Amino acid sequence: MARKTRGFSDKLPSYGDAEFSKYLRTVFLKSMGYTDEALERPIIGIANTYSAYNSCHATVPTLIEAIKRGVMIAGGLPFEFPVISLHESFCTPTSMYLRNLMSMDTEEMIRAQPMDAVVLVGGCDKTVPALLMGAASAGTPAILEVTGPMLTGSYRGQRVGACTDCRGFWGRYRAGEITQEQLPEITDQLGPTPGTCMVMGTASTMALISEALGLMLPGGATIPAVHSQRLRHGEQTGAQAVALANSGLTLDKIMTPEAVENAVRVLLAIGGSTNGLIHLTAMAGRLGIEVCLDRVDELARETPVIVDLKPTGEHYMQELHEAGGFAAILRTLAPLLDTEQKTVTGKPLKDALKAAPEWPQSVVRPLDNPLSSEGGLAVLRGNLAPGGAVIKQSAASAELRTHTGRAIVFESVEDLANRIDDPDLDVTRDDILVMRNAGPVGAPGMPEAGYLPIPKKLAQAGVTDMVRISDARMSGTAYGSIVLHVTPEAAIGGPLCLIETGDRITMDIPNRRLEVDLSDKTLQARAAAIEKKPARPTPERGFARLFDQTVLQADKGCDFDFLAGK
Ligand code: FES
Repeated sequence: MARKTRGFSDKLPSYGDAEFSKYLRTVFLKSMGYTDEALERPIIGIANTYSAYNSCHATVPTLIEAIKRGVMIAGGLPFEFPVISLHESFCTPTSMYLRNLMSMDTEEMIRAQPMDAVVLVGGCDKTVPALLMGAASAGTPAILEVTGPMLTGSYRGQRVGACTDCRGFWGRYRAGEITQEQLPEITDQLGPTPGTCMVMGTASTMALISEALGLMLPGGATIPAVHSQRLRHGEQTGAQAVALANSGLTLDKIMTPEAVENAVRVLLAIGGSTNGLIHLTAMAGRLGIEVCLDRVDELARETPVIVDLKPTGEHYMQELHEAGGFAAILRTLAPLLDTEQKTVTGKPLKDALKAAPEWPQSVVRPLDNPLSSEGGLAVLRGNLAPGGAVIKQSAASAELRTHTGRAIVFESVEDLANRIDDPDLDVTRDDILVMRNAGPVGAPGMPEAGYLPIPKKLAQAGVTDMVRISDARMSGTAYGSIVLHVTPEAAIGGPLCLIETGDRITMDIPNRRLEVDLSDKTLQARAAAIEKKPARPTPERGFARLFDQTVLQADKGCDFDFLAGK
């Protein structure tokens, strides 16, 4: 049965006289030219993340016009409002530092302003989780529309795109295979259209797991940003928002524990970004749902990687879209999923397959012929990471899956930048590069610095991968034998702060181990010595102080402690 929407009668400012508040609001609405009839309609808020600083959202104005059209066709009244926008390349120290702030902005503006449902328009890595975290906490019916991926470019006959190829070219530049003069021609081609990175980076991962969670209309995850189909999808999303307003279907009824487990499965099967795990944990955490790392690893052992996209495979999002998009993944993975889970359509996930035709394709592999038999991520534990660490095993080198080596320790991102290319750095290809103080508190904001560069002298000698360990994150577009999210982080006293150059470290992916060859007694003695050093300075004011004092560790999604929980 349709619920009664409250429209502009809702969330009135507090003058102590509700009728006066409504009367005054009507005056200001009419100053914009609205008629009384228009104001009777359900109100659909549209969270606008357009920003000149966000190239991944360059198409948002056009997309919002399509969403508004859909709202109007379905009998609603669209009202767009601005929220913070974050792009990976335009935020220092890292966009992750601001994700929770964006989620608070989203939550509070949904809470404060009258709207019967809200359309969340996101795309670039942190924007989708921030919008969904905020909407989950606000409790207003919500639907997601992403901007969509970029198309690919072509460099001298080679198909290229952001940003796995960005990293490949940069590695070749550092190795002396590409000259400074070639870089402008290369950068012309790596991001040839507006949209999000078109490999299985964090944006693509978040779009796909959001569709798996049932938070967007079918097909929305993969439609390229510049296709007209994206606008039709936007129009349909606007119309569905009106249906949501009338049904009152809120995110807590869609993002259930079972739906979250579906999303973890999909994350593993697509070879998704390690960041996806942090964001999903934070989103679920807003509804009091725990994503347990041990359960993630259990699922990883029985969920194959079936999507052949860079950096794990060969293709780009455009090909995944042409192969059927999320429906092709859902069809293959259905035996491992709970497809009865309800979506924003009000119908179960499995219904998306009814309208999705099937045709021969080679991007989504069958379960019996996967890219790899285990899921994309693995969770490592041991005396170096008692709270867990994560590796994108699908993007690691086969010969380094079990490796013991000498630690070469860098104190911070800055120390790494200063010394990694020093010709006198004592390092060989068998060593393990360790960087600390780059976690949620330490950096702060857990930057994507975990993709430690191969020291220049080794890169020039042909070394393309080494074991690298840190408490930082890594871009989903990156690849290599890279252990991330070591928890607890060094800045709050995690064992990573005790490692010294020359210690022997073992990474053993098959047995899920991350160990330093030191006795408990030695570790305790080193910890006692560290305690005598001056305490880490804490920020005195503002958001930096709030962040420092309340951010949770990676295994809890790096949310603020006072925002997590229902
Ligand atoms: Fe926005 Fe990659 S930088 S999706």
